[in-house]
Amino acid sequence: MIDQITRQADEAAAAVESAATLADLQQVESDQLGRSAPLTLSKRQLGSIPVENRKEAGRALNEARRRVESMLEDRRRTLADAERASRLVAERLDLTEVPPAVEAGHAHIVTQAWEELEDVFVGMGYEVAEGPEVETDWHNFDALNIPAGHPARDEFDTIYVNHGKAGSTLLRTHTSPVQIRAMQQSEPPIYIVAPGRVFRRDTADATHMPVFHQIEGLVIDKGISLADLAGTIEVFTERYFGPGFSSRLRPNHFPFTEPSAEFDIQRPDGSWLELGGCGMVHPDVLRAGGVNPEQWSGFAFGFGIDRLALMKFGVDDLRELFTNDVRFLRQF
Ligand code: DAH
Repeated sequence: MIDQITRQADEAAAAVESAATLADLQQVESDQLGRSAPLTLSKRQLGSIPVENRKEAGRALNEARRRVESMLEDRRRTLADAERASRLVAERLDLTEVPPAVEAGHAHIVTQAWEELEDVFVGMGYEVAEGPEVETDWHNFDALNIPAGHPARDEFDTIYVNHGKAGSTLLRTHTSPVQIRAMQQSEPPIYIVAPGRVFRRDTADATHMPVFHQIEGLVIDKGISLADLAGTIEVFTERYFGPGFSSRLRPNHFPFTEPSAEFDIQRPDGSWLELGGCGMVHPDVLRAGGVNPEQWSGFAFGFGIDRLALMKFGVDDLRELFTNDVRFLRQF
């Protein structure tokens, strides 16, 4: 009997040791300690063995059960630890910060030119002003001394907006209407530049786009003369283009200025670049803006930004600025 109990206990111990998972171990427990386990059956035989052996066999059975129970306990702890460890590995989240895969971009070359122009004028004491892209025909034309029927209206190839009375609302054809809005909004002295988008009915080609950018300048103060205008253009030229560049004014005509001029920039190699228009603000335009021409005078200028960006970055087709091909844009 004792031998039988020892063998059963050894077999139970071996089964416990070979259980590979907690589920296996549970099965081993019921096989080795349950109702039909060998040790349980041995216990039932106790009553049928000779009395003098019963006590010793009973003690041996109790010890065997305790041994198997404590081995089960150890094995359970070992398997539970192992299962927890492998779950931690499987469920591990890598929270290490990885540098982003995208590179930082940069401002579009038109934006770069726009912001540099603003910087130069702000450095000269100007403020940056804005106006709406959808304008009234009054601000875009009438107030700028271009009444209905004036030939200059046709030259602008205006895109009209279907809003209000026919022809009363349009996409601004130039930044000049911001002159009127600036005068209406604040009392002189006024020193502003107004960069922005303008629109014309034009077919896209290397030098034309239906949407492009201009910057407008307006100065209204006491005793402003043509000499102030010429001096301002000259200082701007040196600061924006750099040393060795200079400017000149050539007589021209614009309805909103009198006298009017075109201004050109001379490069260090002696060649000329036609940049924009300028002049002394016409008295009618001052009046349209609510400014008394007897008290105040001023000058205005306006030119395209896109062409400056093309020149600066050596690009020869205006359309490149609008296709937004990153392979092109990345170069700058
Ligand atoms: N607005 C004109 C244009 O788009 C440019 C211009 C000319 C603006 C003379 C001015 C100016 O302020 O005085 O062609």
